[in-house]
Amino acid sequence: MKRTKVKSLLSEKAKGQEICVKGWVRTRRGSKNVSFIALNDGSTINNIQIVAEGDHFDEEILKKITTGSAISIIGILVESKGGGQNVEVLAATIEILGEADGDEYPLQPKKHSLEFLREKAHLRFRTNTFSAVFRLRHALTFAVHKFFNDKGFSSIHSPIITGVDAEGAGEMFQITTLDLDKIGSEVDYTTDFFGSKTNLTVSGQLEAELAALALGQVYTFGPTFRAENSNTSRHLSEFWMIEPEVAFADLEENMDLAEEFLKYCIQYCITNCADDLRFLDNRLVEEEKNLKKEEKHEMGLLERLQFVIENNFVRLTYTEAIDILRNSKPNKKKKFNYIIKGFGDDLQSEHERYLVEKKFKKPVIITDYPKGIKAFYMKQNEDGETVRAMDILFPLIGEIVGGSQREENLEKLSQRMEEMEVEKEELWWYLETRKFGTCIHSGFGLGFERLIMFVTGMKNIRDVIPFPRTPQNAEF
Ligand code: 4AD
Ligand code: MG
Repeated sequence: MKRTKVKSLLSEKAKGQEICVKGWVRTRRGSKNVSFIALNDGSTINNIQIVAEGDHFDEEILKKITTGSAISIIGILVESKGGGQNVEVLAATIEILGEADGDEYPLQPKKHSLEFLREKAHLRFRTNTFSAVFRLRHALTFAVHKFFNDKGFSSIHSPIITGVDAEGAGEMFQITTLDLDKIGSEVDYTTDFFGSKTNLTVSGQLEAELAALALGQVYTFGPTFRAENSNTSRHLSEFWMIEPEVAFADLEENMDLAEEFLKYCIQYCITNCADDLRFLDNRLVEEEKNLKKEEKHEMGLLERLQFVIENNFVRLTYTEAIDILRNSKPNKKKKFNYIIKGFGDDLQSEHERYLVEKKFKKPVIITDYPKGIKAFYMKQNEDGETVRAMDILFPLIGEIVGGSQREENLEKLSQRMEEMEVEKEELWWYLETRKFGTCIHSGFGLGFERLIMFVTGMKNIRDVIPFPRTPQNAEF
């Protein structure tokens, strides 16, 4: 008999029809005469209740229906006699597909800490929290492609193996087939696999620019790798990034696109993932019960998502932002840990969060950063000091998007590369796009995991990617 998903069973009116359902047992309770099994198959956060009347089933079978075991049920879908659910399945046959020894199975039906579950990354998909997070991750993936497809963008697969450091920050994982045990101090890269020095990509932007200067509007959506040694709750060594690039677009158009895109993705989840979001909303309420009043968030998860959709993002320049920050304190008692002294200082996450959460209470876009703290490819302003950069800052997250208008002028770009000691020979192909048919163009990068953190309310980036890679950690 063909199996039906729990999600579709729960939305059906009970008609007394025979169905087959397969899934994993969350709990079994009841008496000698009747067992109530909460079964989940991953299609929804909700379980279906299976009623197994004792005299129908062997004691031996019932004993094996423990938390974590996989079972298959054939039975009749009926209106539920108990509260809490509309329908339940009256079991006629139960088959044990895979046992889970009650003494050994790590996920008992009780609250486990997220830290504990990170060490059980192979099983944590089976918890309510992680199944909700990963269904939302999927929904967001789909929303990203739908948004750009509907607007006529082409998706471009940028290479994972490359010879360039697109951001010029030097945080790269090198790739080699040379025998590291036998390597001397003088390495001849012409003998390496690709005949030159290569690394995992830190960004698909430069390749996206090449495509945009022909296809008009493109986006990449792929994994990127950064060997930054920052063990924070917002950094991964392997993360996914979405990088749109649009020809003939200036910074204003770029910001408009980014704002519309973020709101679209959030709205998509509200419309399509209501059950999972409601679960995660309640989860946060529970989590915050034990916090002090000043540590609690002012808004619930759903409220916060709605709030971002309904409000225009605040736009201000870097220079305006540091003027505000120099005259502000995060609260009455405390100063910032890092005091902004003047133009040229980079904003720390405490400053970003102050602007978003205290000062404006809205997402903020900061533009026109000092050229010294931004990448070589950004368009230089006429003041000679700043570049047409934009960072979008979100409540609880900080920087979620980084983007810019690109320098389209060959001379200015070459000069900036020289100043910043970016190898021009290696990027000869990038420079040629400024030589042949150059035009203004802009783009940005959205950190996919940071968006998922915002939408799910998860506070650690390790909990929104199935298998996180961070310094000293690549298990699973
Ligand atoms: O600001 P970033 O470094 O910008 C770029 O890579 C540009 N090439 C984008 C472009 O203009 N096409 O990174 C973009 C975003 C950040 O705003 C942040 O959300 C995320 O990527 N990000 C990270 N996410 C997780 N872990 C890390 N280590 C991240 N580094 C950046
Ligand atoms: Mg950035």
